Amino acid sequence: MDAVSVIRTKRDRGELSDEQIDWVIDAYTRGEVADEQMSALAMAILLNGMDRREIARWTAAMIASGERMDFSSLTRPTADKHSTGGVGDKITLPLAPLVAACGAAVPQLSGRGLGHTGGTLDKLESIPGWRAQLSNEEMLSVLDGVGAVICAAGDGLAPADKKLYALRDVTGTVEAIPLIASSIMSKKIAEGTGSLVLDVKVGTGAFMKTIEDARELASTMVGLGTDHGVRTVALLTDMSTPLGLTAGNALEVRESVEVLAGGGPADVVELTLALAREMLDAAGLKDADPAKALADGSAMDVWRRMIKAQGGDPDAPLPTSREQHVVTAPSSGILTRLDAYDIGIAAWRLGAGRARKEDPVQAAAGVEMHAKPGDPVTEGQPLLTLHTDTPERFAYALESVEGSYDIGVAGGEFTPSPVVLE
Ligand code: URA
Repeated sequence: MDAVSVIRTKRDRGELSDEQIDWVIDAYTRGEVADEQMSALAMAILLNGMDRREIARWTAAMIASGERMDFSSLTRPTADKHSTGGVGDKITLPLAPLVAACGAAVPQLSGRGLGHTGGTLDKLESIPGWRAQLSNEEMLSVLDGVGAVICAAGDGLAPADKKLYALRDVTGTVEAIPLIASSIMSKKIAEGTGSLVLDVKVGTGAFMKTIEDARELASTMVGLGTDHGVRTVALLTDMSTPLGLTAGNALEVRESVEVLAGGGPADVVELTLALAREMLDAAGLKDADPAKALADGSAMDVWRRMIKAQGGDPDAPLPTSREQHVVTAPSSGILTRLDAYDIGIAAWRLGAGRARKEDPVQAAAGVEMHAKPGDPVTEGQPLLTLHTDTPERFAYALESVEGSYDIGVAGGEFTPSPVVLE
């Protein structure tokens, strides 16, 4: 077998055989297939696609490239959630302790942000002392003792995907449904969760810009999970506007704690509860009542124990930005659009995200929103507050903010998008 013949097969719109797929994933992981060869193959897959059999085999080969975790020693059923990524998407933070408070074990392996979408680990690292890196034994011990753990995936889990995802990120080959589905599902299946709820985002701030593409991604992932014995369901949810009223690391932790305290923005609460119900259902805990666990403080109790178990101080003040810039409404009326992508780019430019994997992020940087689509606004009122420690970033962030919103006439037509689309 050789890499050039595998690339040629896909370049010429052929189907890759099981042997070709097994060989190329294994040889790439071992360094025998070069990055430039894998990037040519990834581009051929992006352009010419893969059928279900190829996607299933590709996923199985990526799982086989590393270790599989085993949660069979736990007495509780396991349930995990994966979001395909968005702006202001802090849902994992209240959701994991909430579902644990209702009786499931939640092993939440999470990632860092890249580009305009935030990463759960970057958000949690704004809590003084909190550690993302746990050994497999530590992870299992937190999961067993607290019921929920949010941490980085160990290096042993789907190493083929780690290499391939980094390569796709710099070769314009991220946005391919077969590659996204196999990347996400190889990690989730190797992680060993019994059930999985997928939050597939649709809209300007998401990978999937159309409902049709989101449906195809969702059904591909549900098929892969089901074939591997993981009870898998997917919700398609709106990402045309940011979730909640904050985009940025410490800002989003603050908002998540508000949700756990029984408050917080309505859309964040609605999506947290919708995903919690799906996770509990998939885990066989149909009688659990997540709304009650939010209201009676039991989810907050699990949050505090989870943060402490990973070295964090849940009572420590969160970092605040050294500089702020307020953007005011230029006219009165109704906010009819607040674009998720533009706000995500602004937060990223303020320092909340990174351009390269090794870049640091600013814990306090980001965008605070004072109105959401559908809200009335008055000329001169604060619309957004930009936060950063490095004020020279304001001008660059403002370029993205400029076209991010529309204000319509008061009393005009406005139809809000539901949070859960399907
Ligand atoms: N998240 C992943 O883990 N992989 C992808 O390919 C895209 C998003």
